[in-house]
Amino acid sequence: MANLIRFGVSLEQKLLQGFDSLLKEKKYSNRSEAIRDLIRESLVKQEWLVGKDVAGAITLVYDHHKRDLVNKILDIQHDFGNLIISLQHIHIDHNNCLELLAVKGAPQKVQNLSDTLRSVKGVRHCALSMSTTGRDLV
Ligand code: NI
Repeated sequence: MANLIRFGVSLEQKLLQGFDSLLKEKKYSNRSEAIRDLIRESLVKQEWLVGKDVAGAITLVYDHHKRDLVNKILDIQHDFGNLIISLQHIHIDHNNCLELLAVKGAPQKVQNLSDTLRSVKGVRHCALSMSTTGRDLV
């Protein structure tokens, strides 16, 4: 790893104990790795706030028997086509479909796509996983 810098952190004992038990639970081998992940998490959150291009995934579950629902979802996906880089459709059972959309673009647009899909009548669940293009992360 290039340019590793060590720095000291002062914490209340109880806070550190809580952190250490969380590390164990999350299967981190050391504190440095866990702190790196926390920092990355904060940087990704910041990317979504400041409007840099982001990446993520939208998970959609819907009942394809609902009238007009499939057409509405397709229309929306075409309207936001420049944001959707990949799409997978899985027939979960007789009624339910699961769609996984890999998305990339401006955060407000990605959020808007997710909100628009969520608002379609018959959509049972819509979750946006906010990730990063990874460009500015180490
Ligand atoms: Ni289906």
